[in-house]
Amino acid sequence: MFLARLAKLEGKKKLLDLGGGPGTFAITFCKINPMIKATVFDFPGIVEIAKKNIAKHHMEQNIDVLGGNFTKDDLGKDYDCVILSNVMHFFNPEENRNTVKKAYEALNNEGMFILHDFFLEDDEKTKPFVVSELTIDWLTMGLVFNFSRKEITEMFKEIGFTEVIFKRIPYLPTSVVIGKKE
Ligand SMILES: C[S@@+](CC[C@H](N)C(=O)[O-])C[C@H]1O[C@@H](n2cnc3c(N)ncnc32)[C@H](O)[C@@H]1O
Repeated sequence: MFLARLAKLEGKKKLLDLGGGPGTFAITFCKINPMIKATVFDFPGIVEIAKKNIAKHHMEQNIDVLGGNFTKDDLGKDYDCVILSNVMHFFNPEENRNTVKKAYEALNNEGMFILHDFFLEDDEKTKPFVVSELTIDWLTMGLVFNFSRKEITEMFKEIGFTEVIFKRIPYLPTSVVIGKKE
């Protein structure tokens, strides 16, 4: 709800929920913005679960699904908005850069990329405490995911986003990074 309201999607028509899992984000975004048509992209087995949720919420007119692997498969194009929520922390920095670039390329001009995940502050990467703890947990699993606010913002700008907004989500350890394409 917080993300859907913060993003201000008035006038946007086509949304991609990348790694959308059960479709919770797409469903919420479309309930708040009924003019939007959304696609939930996830592995083929997972989109079957999303389909059931979409039907449960009577949102079949607004939301469809696309099964695939976003590191290899085509994402489609002409999206006004791409969401990537709680997906990045399963990948290493280079894979994440490729995913952000792929999302950038799938967006229309004036499109918006909404990234939701766990980001550190720009000090010695010790804050927020919960996020630095998670970072260590991920390291023990062989996953290097430890972007600071500054590093993720710089990555967005290098890829081509002209405006980048970073906001911490109230009462949660996660943050949202919104990149706008010119
Ligand atoms: C932690 S869940 C997040 C689900 C949802 N976005 C959310 O925030 O509630 C991560 C999702 O990313 C999907 N995923 C991970 N790697 C993927 C890939 N290479 N291609 C497609 N989906 C992928 C997983 O199947 C899973 O549904």
